Amino acid sequence: MGQGIYIVDGGHPLNGRITVYGAKNAVLPIMAASVLTEEEVILHGVPHLSDVEDMKDILRGLGAKADLSDHTIVINSKDANGYEIPKELSRKMRSSIFLIGALISRFGFAVVNQPGGCEIGLRPIDLHIKGLRALNVDIREEYGELRCDGTDVSGARIGLDYPSVGATENIIMAAVKAKGTTVIHNAAREPEVVDLAMFINSMGGRVTGAGTDTIVIEGVETLHGTEYTIMPDRIVAGTYMAAVAAAGGDVLIEQVIPYHLLATASKLSEAGCRIMWQDHAVRIERTAPLQEMMLVETRPFPAFPTDMQAQIMAVAAIAAGTSVIRENVFENRFKHAAELNRMGANITIMDRTAIVRGVEQLRGTEVSAHDLRGAAALVIAALAAQGRTTIRNRAFAERGYQDLAAEMRSIGASIVKGE
Ligand code: EPZ
Repeated sequence: MGQGIYIVDGGHPLNGRITVYGAKNAVLPIMAASVLTEEEVILHGVPHLSDVEDMKDILRGLGAKADLSDHTIVINSKDANGYEIPKELSRKMRSSIFLIGALISRFGFAVVNQPGGCEIGLRPIDLHIKGLRALNVDIREEYGELRCDGTDVSGARIGLDYPSVGATENIIMAAVKAKGTTVIHNAAREPEVVDLAMFINSMGGRVTGAGTDTIVIEGVETLHGTEYTIMPDRIVAGTYMAAVAAAGGDVLIEQVIPYHLLATASKLSEAGCRIMWQDHAVRIERTAPLQEMMLVETRPFPAFPTDMQAQIMAVAAIAAGTSVIRENVFENRFKHAAELNRMGANITIMDRTAIVRGVEQLRGTEVSAHDLRGAAALVIAALAAQGRTTIRNRAFAERGYQDLAAEMRSIGASIVKGE
């Protein structure tokens, strides 16, 4: 990406309080689902992220109105007249794939560019296609495009080979107005799926079982407008927790749902952090030296999230002893390891396993981010490192964090953005 840098002067413990904003991985499918109704949709708690801007542009490209001011977006797709996602936009962001289900329910058709892989893996969509075809959607893959005919969608019983978050969300959106009932077995249980289901139900949809591995969608005739508040971002909250673990200090993180953070908190307390829960907040303190985390395995919710793997590796890099991290979800999500080693970490990668031998201290140097959560991990490592670190490709972080430098500065970090 090559856009922008972070300059970090490490060694400052983090203190104070910080508030978490709306979840990227909830607002993106919910924005897609807003085309299910011809009435106005108002979303609160919308984070200011480049991915949100891209989804907003896609909605506008379809003829919908979408205006974001402060943290509220008003969407009105009454005049939406298209169901073809422009190539340049769908290539930019994988999440446009969520629109297939929504466009089929609204228009009966969808044309989306075959999403390419991305920095963390091939990201195939075979489970999306299998699920949609089970709903009687005719999908042709021509010249890198997916041309979908969903004029006769009918409910079905679908078993997912893997609890894919995106496939679960796409199937839900395609099934909300289908004839009859759809049951998804081995569905993704992520909180973002629950948020999407609650949003659809607030429009008059009939989705039950979200959050479990079996989701039932009863087709309805129409969906009406709604006003909805997006759930807080559990990965942003987890990132802040990992930053305190690495840099040390004592921070109150507000606007969280504790249940969403249990797996992350369990690993950080194993590493020696003190974690105190409140109804909608978590306080994390780390004063003693970090200890190894025997084994971190990324798996679908409620297990340890893959989107926290890079951040926990930065913590493990300076934890006494040896931590083992297995990335079970994506096939190529360890690019940050080489960058951490440039800072003096001692990490060995063997296939999907990282062996992290803790070192006393990381040292500041020049590193590059290669993906969104890797960028966050490098910021975390730099906060704990001795001296100055320059992190290139800041734009990756801006896909999922509103302004990571300002967020970290608000709790005492010395970090600025540069060009
Ligand atoms: C969502 O991606 C998130 N993105 C990802 O967050 C997150 O890492 C992932 O879920 C897992 O939690 C959004 O919600 C926008 P999957 P998604 O389908 O839906 C394979 C971040 O950092 N798979 O559950 O693409 C796939 O290759 C991003 O915020 C198939 O094989 O995740 C992967 O190995 C990164 N075939 C695994 O399943 C398919 O048809 C999990 O993918 C679909 C997926």
